[in-house]
Amino acid sequence: MKLVYRGKTKDVYEKDSGSLHLVFTDRVTKNDAGEIDPGGNNLAEETIPGQGEACLLMTSAIFEEINKKNIAPTHMLGYDLSTLSMEVRRAKLFVPNLEWVARWRCTGSLLRRYAMVPGIHDGMVLPSPVFEVTLKDDAAGDPPIVPSALVALGIVDGKIMDELWAKHQAVMGAIKDMFTARKLDLWDAKIEWGLDENGRPLLIDEISPGCCRAYKAGTKERVLGRELAEYFRC
Ligand SMILES: Nc1ncnc2c1ncn2[C@@H]1O[C@H](COP(=O)(O)OP(=O)(O)OP(=O)(O)O)[C@@H](O)[C@H]1O
Ligand SMILES: [Mg+2]
Repeated sequence: MKLVYRGKTKDVYEKDSGSLHLVFTDRVTKNDAGEIDPGGNNLAEETIPGQGEACLLMTSAIFEEINKKNIAPTHMLGYDLSTLSMEVRRAKLFVPNLEWVARWRCTGSLLRRYAMVPGIHDGMVLPSPVFEVTLKDDAAGDPPIVPSALVALGIVDGKIMDELWAKHQAVMGAIKDMFTARKLDLWDAKIEWGLDENGRPLLIDEISPGCCRAYKAGTKERVLGRELAEYFRC
């Protein structure tokens, strides 16, 4: 197998069959304040033992449920917890690559962007979910982009934008339900989409603790990292 890309937390190998072999490592990211933050944009010097297993455990459980319920095609072909690896269908990535977000509570960058709105506060329940897309560009701070601009700028083909948007909402709804079923309150989450060999939407990458903010239902107790992943162990 050939190493084709070393991401911040995953190593990506290409197999002779053309599929990709993702290895989940114990590398972790930090935020701009220098704190260990699985959602951060910079690689930390230290590693956290068990981090790779936690990310693979949670990702595989969520992809399995999405596959079983036929909500959208995922890239997962198989996974192996003993080698911390997942075999996946290779997708065509958007250029620039995108992060697809859903929010059920107001926090983080949504709160910062709209701080001038009367009554807005951290943790405010949003009566209907907010779906957003951001450009995956660490240096530019992952700026949001509206669907019409994605099409007008030629990043997403107009013919599949509606399908992609509908699938994004369906997948996020399903993820929210998985958290609720585990007595977790999901505040927001981000996922990645690519295109399959026919140019159709394919859910890719990972859905791990760093991709979401979750709290124990009815509490202010955030559930992070390996503790969150354990909720997804069968
Ligand atoms: N099915 C797939 N086909 C092609 N590329 C994929 C697929 N699934 C994930 N990837 C890419 O593999 C890489 C995984 O590495 P990792 O998650 O560590 O990177 P990252 O730090 O999130 O992102 P980056 O380093 O690109 O900013 C990402 O660039 C992701 O877009
Ligand atoms: Mg990633």
